[in-house]
Amino acid sequence: MNDGLQFALKITFFAAPFAVIMKRSKIRELLLTSPASQHVLVKGWVRTFRNNQFIALNDGSTIHNLQCVAALNSIDEGTLRRITTGACLSIQGELIASPAKGQAVEVKVTSLEVLGDSDPEKFPLQPKKHSLEFLREIAHLRPRTNTFGAVMRLRHAMAFAVHKFFNDRQFVYVHTPVITGSDAEGAGAMFRVTTMDIGNPPRDEQGKINYKEDFFGRETNLTVSGQLEGETYALALSEIYTFGPTFRAENSNTTRHLAEFWMIEPEMAFYDINDNMQLGQDLLQYVVKYALDNCKDDIEFLDKRSAEEEAGKPQEQRSELGLIDRLKFVTENDFQRLTYTEAFDILRNSNPNKKKKFQFLIEQWGADFQSEHERYLVEKHFKKPVILRDYPKEIKSFYMRQNDDGKTVAAMDILFPGIGEIIGGSQREERYDRLLKRIEELKLPEKDLWWYLELRKFGSAPHSGFGLGFERLMQFVSGMTNIRDVIPFPRFPGNAEF
Ligand code: 4AD
Ligand code: MG
Repeated sequence: MNDGLQFALKITFFAAPFAVIMKRSKIRELLLTSPASQHVLVKGWVRTFRNNQFIALNDGSTIHNLQCVAALNSIDEGTLRRITTGACLSIQGELIASPAKGQAVEVKVTSLEVLGDSDPEKFPLQPKKHSLEFLREIAHLRPRTNTFGAVMRLRHAMAFAVHKFFNDRQFVYVHTPVITGSDAEGAGAMFRVTTMDIGNPPRDEQGKINYKEDFFGRETNLTVSGQLEGETYALALSEIYTFGPTFRAENSNTTRHLAEFWMIEPEMAFYDINDNMQLGQDLLQYVVKYALDNCKDDIEFLDKRSAEEEAGKPQEQRSELGLIDRLKFVTENDFQRLTYTEAFDILRNSNPNKKKKFQFLIEQWGADFQSEHERYLVEKHFKKPVILRDYPKEIKSFYMRQNDDGKTVAAMDILFPGIGEIIGGSQREERYDRLLKRIEELKLPEKDLWWYLELRKFGSAPHSGFGLGFERLMQFVSGMTNIRDVIPFPRFPGNAEF
């Protein structure tokens, strides 16, 4: 047993007859407690220390700090010097009404222990504003800032709200695999999973890499989407969803792309494209309302921070609404629904297109929309979230249900202000012959899709689903402009530190 622990045990043993072993209170609870000089124990990290007296302590349970006040000269010199920004403390004291402005209660310190020192010369987080770029380099310490504390508490609440939404509607949470055998989805470049010696892989007679000798006896990758496996469960349990990490090895260095992101993918038997669009809208409105109702302090903080960020931008780039107003706007308005072809006409005739302001001009029906087009529709034209449906089949995946016009598929994308595409989904092709024909046309590996095709042979049913990018949702709800700042440890090209 180490000495420290032995010492602690002895203290507890001798102290036990005289003092009740204290339970630690969370700062969030204490700030809501009526003060009556009750004895409390708190533990947390020092944000600031003023006048050798006032400690602002934070334990991550809330955006707010607890003010702990030590009587002058009550703490010995040696300990005083160790109370520095970043140090971890255990404090006991009395909870009293605060005479100062800014907080209802404070703790009058009766004893204080330094659990972990933090050299103020070396601790990178100073009590001042740091740039988000700098904080990304110290992703192990950034959760100790107000901004990242707020974003990560909100992220937790959003994940919880997603599960609650589906659980309340009797959807079954299915864990689809992270390692998959084929790139059936075609959603993007994949990360190879292998245990072979890449410097000297086993080869077959023709000298090609022999994957039969790899761990799984075949080529394997990290999943880009749980959809296809999700469909198998929807065609048994009716309504399911997945919520897990997905991986895309695209070289996209944007504020909206990650190489590792979390996706929520519901899949529903007996839903057509209209039911699917409605579920997407209901889910987004529910989780945004959940944030407004349950994360008030953090959202208010993020609202102010995003207003300050906006104020630093040139007038024409500023968002017309503040964060809280944008959130309310989504919960209170129906989403605008229209077809790709209708949107194409609007964009072709739009001012930025005529004046050649778009980087990609809208000329030929069938072209994919870029985020500049999506944002024009949402932010300038309709000024509300938009659901686009019935896209040209050439720019969408093989599994989307073919419409009778022979040109489009029953796809749907939901577009959000400041974000662009937040949801992508479709009604699925449930007709065996049609699906097989499309797989052949696109020269997809039919043998890898045998099980997916079999779903259409045995008790096929109309069904639909979509994918909601969790970090894009987080960007919207937190007002953070870079997707790298809404996930604890972002993965993007050239970066897998931590
Ligand atoms: O549109 P995507 O590629 O659709 C699918 O993967 C379907 N299999 C989903 C389904 O129907 N079950 O991706 C869905 C969503 C996008 O709308 C976007 O919000 C997010 O996932 N997304 C990303 N988020 C962060 N980084 C990336 N690289 C992303 N790629 C997609
Ligand atoms: Mg998409």
